[in-house]
Amino acid sequence: MDLQTESAVPEVVATPKPAVPKYRKHVFICTNDKDGGKKHCGSERGMELVEAFRTELKDRGLQTEIRAQKAGCLNMCAFGPSMVVYPDAIFYGNVTPADVVQIVEEHLVGDQPVKRLVI
Ligand code: FES
Repeated sequence: MDLQTESAVPEVVATPKPAVPKYRKHVFICTNDKDGGKKHCGSERGMELVEAFRTELKDRGLQTEIRAQKAGCLNMCAFGPSMVVYPDAIFYGNVTPADVVQIVEEHLVGDQPVKRLVI
């Protein structure tokens, strides 16, 4: 077989990559539930926090650049409800719905972590 001929060389076709959203900040909020009466974020308002962050971000028109989503256990159970903000890798503990506006304004928008909640 002649390797120099066109038919011997497979045609390489570039396949376009699917569009992957590039978030400026990505917030993971633990909504994990545990058995056995141990403290866990799910029962400590985890989903309520997810919804509060999503609503706040949407109200400010930030939902395409900052994403808030539920997550499994972050290994910060004793501080729950806990969450982490990437790319900063800042963990927050004992977060309540009353803290959401401050975290959005100061950290997610202003890049200044809310020190009183950092763990
Ligand atoms: S259950 Fe939320 S950090 Fe472990």
